[in-house]
Amino acid sequence: MNPICQNWSQWLNETRFAALTDEMKAQNMKWLEAVRDVILTFAQITPNDVILDIGTGTGLLGMKALEMQQGKGKVIFSDKFQDCLDSCKEFLENNGITEGYEFLLSECEHIALNECTVTKALMRSVLVHIVNKQAAINEIYRVLRHGGAFCAFEPIIRTNTKYWELLHPSFIDKYDEFKAAEEEFSKDPMDPLFNFDEKTLKQNLEEAGFEKPEIHLQTVQSKYVVQPGMVETWFVTPPSPSAKCTKERFLMYFPESTVKKYIKDVERYLTGKEISLKTNAALIYAKK
Ligand SMILES: C[S@@+](CC[C@H](N)C(=O)[O-])C[C@H]1O[C@@H](n2cnc3c(N)ncnc32)[C@H](O)[C@@H]1O
Repeated sequence: MNPICQNWSQWLNETRFAALTDEMKAQNMKWLEAVRDVILTFAQITPNDVILDIGTGTGLLGMKALEMQQGKGKVIFSDKFQDCLDSCKEFLENNGITEGYEFLLSECEHIALNECTVTKALMRSVLVHIVNKQAAINEIYRVLRHGGAFCAFEPIIRTNTKYWELLHPSFIDKYDEFKAAEEEFSKDPMDPLFNFDEKTLKQNLEEAGFEKPEIHLQTVQSKYVVQPGMVETWFVTPPSPSAKCTKERFLMYFPESTVKKYIKDVERYLTGKEISLKTNAALIYAKK
C-alpha cells in the first residue's frame, strides 16, 4: 500500500481529490453523479432487478440503484476489499436503510456467485484497476442471466494527455528522456491502467460471449489554470492504493535527484499556466 493511502475507501474519500481545488472537487462530484445516472439509464433499472454493483467502493452506483428499486428487487454491493463494504454498510445503517441489499466480498476475476444469478451488472472505474480484464469480463458474463445486461463506464487512460505533451523541451532538463520513459511505462502490458483501450475491451466482451456489445467512446477536453502545489501533488498521488504514483514510475528510470529536478522544472513551467487536458472513457452496454 502507498504511504499516503492505506485503502480504497480512503482513496475514494480523500486521495483522488488531493490535487483539486474546492471548486474542482465540486465539479468532479457533479460529474460523478452524471456518469452514475448515465450508467443507470443505460441499464434500464426496474424494481425487480437483481443488481450486482461490482467494485462498489463507497456505493456510487449501488446506492442510487437501491433508491430506484423502491424496496423491491435486490442490490448486491460487491468489492474485493472489506473496507469498501464496511463503508457502504455504515452509510446504509446511518440512513436507516435496512432492506433490499446484500454484501459480497469477492474479486471480479472470480465472482462468488452461481451462474445466471443477476439481471444487471454495473461497474464504474474498476476494470481499469484489473490486470486480466478478460477473466473479469468472462465472470460478469457467467453470473448474468440470459437477457441481462452489463453496463459500465471505464476511463481509457492510454490515450489521455501525457505530461510531456504539456511541456516545452527548452524549459525542461532531459525532456526527451522523460518523454521516452513516460511512453514506455504507458505501454506496460502488466499495468492495468494502461493495458487496454476501447478496442481491446470490445474484443474481451465478444470473447466472453456478449453479442454485439456497444462501446461509446467519450472524450472530454478540460481547461484549467495550474495552481501552486498542484504539480507536486499530481506526481505523488497514487492512482490506486496499490499502484505506483508517477514519481515512483519515473524512479524506475532515473535517480531520485533527476526525478526531483524534473518535477521542479515541470512545476516552474506549468504553475500559473492554463492547460488543456484530454480524458477518454468508454461507456459499455452489453446484453447476454
Ligand atoms: C475507482 S474505485 C470505483 C468505485 C465505485 N465503483 C465508484 O464508481 O465510485 C475502484 C473500486 O474497485 C475495487 N476493486 C479493485 N480491484 C478489484 C477486483 N479485482 N475485484 C473487485 N473489485 C475491485 C476497489 O476496491 C474500488 O472500490
